[in-house]
Amino acid sequence: MSLFLGTLLTLLVVIDCAVAVCSTFPTQINVSMCNWQGLRANILRDTIYLDGGELWYQKGFDDGCVEPQPDNNLEATIYYLNLTTSFNTTSDFMKLLSNMSVAGGASSIAPNYVDGTMFANDNEFYLYGGMLPNTDSSAPPPSNQVLSYAAHQYGAYRSSWAPNWQQEYLSTNVTRYITNGAAASAPSENLGFYFSGMRAADWGDFTLNQLQSNQTANTLITLDMSTMSDGKWTNNTLPSYIPARSRAELVWVPISESGVLVAIGGVIEPIEFFRNEKANSTRTAESKRISPTFMETVSVFDVESKAWYLQNTTGDIPPQLTEFCSVLASAADGSSHNIYIYGGYDGLNYNANPSDDVYILSLPSFKWVKAYNGTNTHSRSGHQCIKVYPDQMLAVGGQHVDSTYCLEGGIIVNFNLNTLTFEDEYDPTTWSKYKVPDLVTALIGGNSNGSATITAPSSWTNSSLAGIFGKKYGKTVETYWPYNSTSTSNSTSSGGSASTSAQESSGGSGFPGWAGGVIGAVLGLLIIALLVGFLLYRRRHRKHEVSEAKSEAAEAQPQNLPPEWMYASGPAAPGPGPVSSSTGMETVETARTTQTTGTQPSTTQPSMTQASTVPESLISPVTPGTVESGGDALYEMHDSSPVELPTSFNTAYYAHDGPPKSEPERGPNLDPRRGSQSPVSPQTPSETGSEYSYPAAHSRRPSSLSLSSPLSIENVMSGRSSHFYESFDSLDTRRPGHRSEASQLTDHLQEKGRKGGTETIREDE
Ligand SMILES: *[C@@H]1O[C@H](CO)[C@@H](O)[C@H](O)[C@H]1NC(C)=O
Ligand SMILES: *[C@@H]1O[C@H](CO)[C@@H](O)[C@H](O)[C@H]1NC(C)=O
Ligand SMILES: *[C@@H]1O[C@H](CO)[C@@H](O)[C@H](O)[C@H]1NC(C)=O
Ligand SMILES: *[C@@H]1O[C@H](CO)[C@@H](O)[C@H](O)[C@H]1NC(C)=O
Ligand SMILES: *[C@@H]1O[C@H](CO)[C@@H](O)[C@H](O)[C@H]1NC(C)=O
Ligand SMILES: *[C@@H]1O[C@H](CO)[C@@H](O)[C@H](O)[C@H]1NC(C)=O
Ligand SMILES: *[C@@H]1O[C@H](CO)[C@@H](O)[C@H](O)[C@H]1NC(C)=O
Ligand SMILES: *[C@@H]1O[C@H](CO)[C@@H](O)[C@H](O)[C@H]1NC(C)=O
Ligand SMILES: *[C@@H]1O[C@H](CO)[C@@H](O)[C@H](O)[C@H]1NC(C)=O
Ligand SMILES: *[C@@H]1O[C@H](CO)[C@@H](O)[C@H](O)[C@H]1NC(C)=O
Ligand SMILES: *[C@@H]1O[C@H](CO)[C@@H](O)[C@H](O)[C@H]1NC(C)=O
Ligand SMILES: *[C@@H]1O[C@H](CO)[C@@H](O)[C@H](O)[C@H]1NC(C)=O
Repeated sequence: MSLFLGTLLTLLVVIDCAVAVCSTFPTQINVSMCNWQGLRANILRDTIYLDGGELWYQKGFDDGCVEPQPDNNLEATIYYLNLTTSFNTTSDFMKLLSNMSVAGGASSIAPNYVDGTMFANDNEFYLYGGMLPNTDSSAPPPSNQVLSYAAHQYGAYRSSWAPNWQQEYLSTNVTRYITNGAAASAPSENLGFYFSGMRAADWGDFTLNQLQSNQTANTLITLDMSTMSDGKWTNNTLPSYIPARSRAELVWVPISESGVLVAIGGVIEPIEFFRNEKANSTRTAESKRISPTFMETVSVFDVESKAWYLQNTTGDIPPQLTEFCSVLASAADGSSHNIYIYGGYDGLNYNANPSDDVYILSLPSFKWVKAYNGTNTHSRSGHQCIKVYPDQMLAVGGQHVDSTYCLEGGIIVNFNLNTLTFEDEYDPTTWSKYKVPDLVTALIGGNSNGSATITAPSSWTNSSLAGIFGKKYGKTVETYWPYNSTSTSNSTSSGGSASTSAQESSGGSGFPGWAGGVIGAVLGLLIIALLVGFLLYRRRHRKHEVSEAKSEAAEAQPQNLPPEWMYASGPAAPGPGPVSSSTGMETVETARTTQTTGTQPSTTQPSMTQASTVPESLISPVTPGTVESGGDALYEMHDSSPVELPTSFNTAYYAHDGPPKSEPERGPNLDPRRGSQSPVSPQTPSETGSEYSYPAAHSRRPSSLSLSSPLSIENVMSGRSSHFYESFDSLDTRRPGHRSEASQLTDHLQEKGRKGGTETIREDE
């Protein structure tokens, strides 16, 4: 009877999607990546890596209902996007993103961090900081452990080398106990910076669940990546006039000897760290008073002289924001450096709809302009932005309101820095040089190529800062676009414009990369590339189906590509040391990098083959630390050799055949009650969404245990971030207000059965 009713109602759903009906025994028909808050991401040449964070899937069922499901990354997986691949707003990112294991896939070594950062130069990246869930089942990594991944070798040449993970150690006086800082990487300097952030009162350990990291950190952590797999870390205290804050954005700008850092926005007392507590008007008032000043007055750090400055801004100053993202685009002649910021939320309201706006801070005029009016359905926070082409910024991950809402436009969206709109697609063959938008030239003069007439703020706070902004940056900033359009066939002409990959160099003669003649050549090649790309697109279409079938067949086998090697640093691990300021070293590095890419323009998958084709002439002196930390394989771990065995309660949780397959027990035991769930659970439709004009999606909850389930109504309703982890220890910390009513309603429904539209189907009867 109820089956008949269910079928009937399912039909009604098809006819009228506004009626929410979920059948009793639905069949899952699809799964997609839904949102991904608090991830860290960066780019190495032609590849974007995405790590950690809180990734949620959405499973779709044949009755039209959907169900959110967290991916707790218990297999220590890191994802990557090959920028030779095109995608659009309807793409399946589960197919588009490749993955590999972090450091062999042992979550005791590589647990899933939320927030923190990924520092990178063009060859390697470091995973630093962030929050771990409670780790009952395995000890958290030591305070001074950090993981790095070298994808391309540099420095001392090794004849037998492959891309590899390293377990490195932080220098003396530096710990991993920091989160929610603002990070920036400067590949041409081999430097990474982590500005301010949040920490525990004693600077000790903290967890995502317990939120002990409720104090701001007044530090700037610096990573020197000059030597491959041998990072040198320093920890400097900020001067008292540089205010500490949570999740600002830090942008490295190529001016002066070694560039400057500009810290924008961020908030104090971010609500996500106090979400287990009652609303506190003192805290809110304090944030409203102080946080907006981080947008009005930006902090500037001269890397060479290690001096901090404050500088007031003017124009259309954005409101207080945290968990937003930024990229930098410089005018062709270097007359302006435009910082684009996108998204974020105010740090005051846990359940607020985040921002979808883009603002530009133009330097050195220090003028703000609002560049894009967003919508309240597309908005996101907790995402990362990466500039992949001179005119394109990809915003990866993020969350819209809470984890039950899927990001509109997909997990990765593409914002055009020239036209100031979101594109429907990313295509490696479609790009153009950067043009200063009219909205900006209206403020600073000049034209799309630069020639800004206003090259100073209305008043410098410090005359030395004027001097710093007056100096050109002399080193080459390597670029790796255009990316070859994906083509596995014998046609090698695709995007054959590799030779035109003009370098964005601001050296002596300004930015010569885009001299008129080159533009003509590039445009010509672009047209050819577009034509070829179109033909390949059609071919790829068919290939896609073939590879799909292949990957299904291959699913039974663990993936061994690329090989994962786990090395451990020997006793003579990287020792403490101040940041090397040897300019001689930097010059050598720059020259080498240029030559390497000159002779080996192919930025293909890291492989033994590629490594061994590096000309002998590029061999440089071996530094002692390099050999010791990189040369001795103490042990290795392959994907195929399980480190820890699966347990029953892990496999029970992921009942459906989504991407999270049966999970071996590897790490933090997030919720011991997980195993108590029945594989077939009653569901309730979602009551959320009425307050946001979000396309109605019928939501299903996977559990009948509303209080103990990771997806209990409390968690699902509780807004931004970490619903899963929250459930562990915040059972009695329900938020006040309308949420409680909703929770009670749903608890009631979950006891009684499922609600479909206006019909309530009793399952127990
Ligand atoms: C997945 O299934 C749900 C429910 O049937 C449907 O609403 C949704 O459009 C599907 N998603 C994709 C990407 O096909
Ligand atoms: C997006 O790409 C897919 C193939 O990858 C294609 O079928 C679809 O039509 C594209 N959608 C849009 C809106 O361009
Ligand atoms: C990793 O990639 C493989 C092959 O594409 C896929 O089968 C698997 O589900 C992916 N793993 C995760 C955790 O996404
Ligand atoms: C560590 O910090 C202490 C106290 O601030 C300082 O004396 C010492 O020089 C620092 N060590 C290093 C290697 O920076
Ligand atoms: C930075 O140094 C201070 C002492 O100067 C120390 O208390 C703190 O733990 C360090 N922070 C990090 C993230 O290493
Ligand atoms: C910060 O966290 C600690 C540890 O959880 C807690 O004891 C303290 O009360 C918190 N401080 C504030 C201001 O909430
Ligand atoms: C509210 O926040 C302020 C500032 O963090 C703190 O001093 C005060 O104790 C808090 N009040 C309550 C009632 O929690
Ligand atoms: C955003 O909206 C405001 C108010 O409608 C308008 O004045 C402004 O020009 C818009 N900005 C952009 C970039 O469209
Ligand atoms: C910067 O702005 C602050 C706040 O508006 C103001 O007090 C200060 O005088 C300004 N500084 C300069 C140099 O204009
Ligand atoms: C590519 O290879 C196929 C057979 O493998 C051949 O028929 C075709 O002509 C080749 N195309 C080009 C452009 O070389
Ligand atoms: C693009 O492909 C061509 C031919 O395979 C190769 O020579 C070139 O190095 C590639 N460029 C990049 C940026 O990968
Ligand atoms: C990206 O894709 C291109 C074309 O398929 C390939 O040559 C390259 O090796 C890939 N890069 C990585 C890092 O996998």
